[in-house]
Order: sequence, then C-alpha cells, then structure tokens
Amino acid sequence: MLVSGGGTNLQALIDAQGGVLKSGKIVLVVSNKEGAYALERAAKAGIESIVIRKKEGVQEAFERELSRSLSEHSIDLIVLAGFLNILSADFTRKYEKRIINIHPSLIPSFCGEGFYGLKVHKEALDYGVKVSGATVHFVNEIPDGGEIILQKAIEVKDGDTPESLQKRIMEEAEWKLLPQAAELVSARIVEEESK
Ligand code: GRF
Repeated sequence: MLVSGGGTNLQALIDAQGGVLKSGKIVLVVSNKEGAYALERAAKAGIESIVIRKKEGVQEAFERELSRSLSEHSIDLIVLAGFLNILSADFTRKYEKRIINIHPSLIPSFCGEGFYGLKVHKEALDYGVKVSGATVHFVNEIPDGGEIILQKAIEVKDGDTPESLQKRIMEEAEWKLLPQAAELVSARIVEEESK
C-alpha cells in the first residue's frame, strides 16, 4: 500500500483481510511522508512500513528505491490510497495492471492532476451534480486515467458541504469499494500465477 496521509482506506483494507479480502494480504505500507497517521495504523496491525521521501524532488531516485522495496517484499499488487505523488510512465508501465488507485468521484468527472482532497467535492458541489461517488481504477501514466475496475454512486444531498460529501463518500463508497476491488484484482493475479 502506498499512502501519504490519514490512511482510512488502508484501515478499511486491514479490516477486510480474511473477510472481503481473501486472495491477498497487505505485506508492506510505504509512505512518502514521515509522520503520516497511516504508519501508525500499519504498526497497530503488525504490518511492516517504511518511509521513502522524494529527496530534492527527484522522482527517478524515489521510484528506484520504491521498486527495490517492492521486489524485496515480492509485492504483486500496489494499492494507492491517498498517495499524493504522481508516478512516472516508466514506473507505471513496469507494473501494468498491477497498480490500483481509489479516487473520490465518478471518473471521468472531477479527476486528474490537482483533483484530490476536498477540492474534488467542492468542484462537484459547485457544478451542481446530483450524484457523485468513488472509483477504483488501474493506474497508468495519465492521472486518474487508467481502466476503471469498480465504481459506486452516492447521492448528493441538499445542504451538503465538501466535508459532508467527502465523509459520506468515504464511509459509504470508498471503504467498501477498495477492499472489493483489491480482492477482484488479487484473485485474478493468483489465478494467473497458478497457470
Ligand atoms: C481518499 O479520499 C482517497 O479517495 C483519495 O485520498 C483520500 C485518502 O484518504 N485518493 P485516506 O488517507 O485513505 O484516509
């Protein structure tokens, strides 16, 4: 799992292990931010975690270190959950159909570079959409542009604020969808590897 922040989606995946998530398990949590609360969640669940920082903004060195850790731990599937760093085309091509991301809107609306956090929900409300939701998709070189795996729609209510919409989308869509999608892809990988 690659994280940068609070890690509520990481928590949802931890809680799903042995339940919805049967075909895989979380082996390593990587944060690009020191002190991210997600690291504490990993520690509490007894999951190994590391921090890899982008030194002097050099993406290549960051990705090299990341790749090394991933292969050392024999990682088959990379899950991005609130990971605030766009991965290069070189990296995403190396892990084609092996990286998934959760985004808090119905892609292709309110997504792409710069659309993260409350901004996504603020833009959805400003536009006046009546439904929003969450999407899990494969990651390629286009931000939020890879093939869609699962989506869940959530109704926008009168009087919603970016905060209230964010909370409902997380609780009712993201925390359910991510474990389901992780299971779908993990099961496919297990099947592929058994051939
Ligand atoms: C979530 O809204 C997720 O969809 C987005 O970033 C947020 C991360 O939250 N990609 P958390 O760190 O999982 O709590």
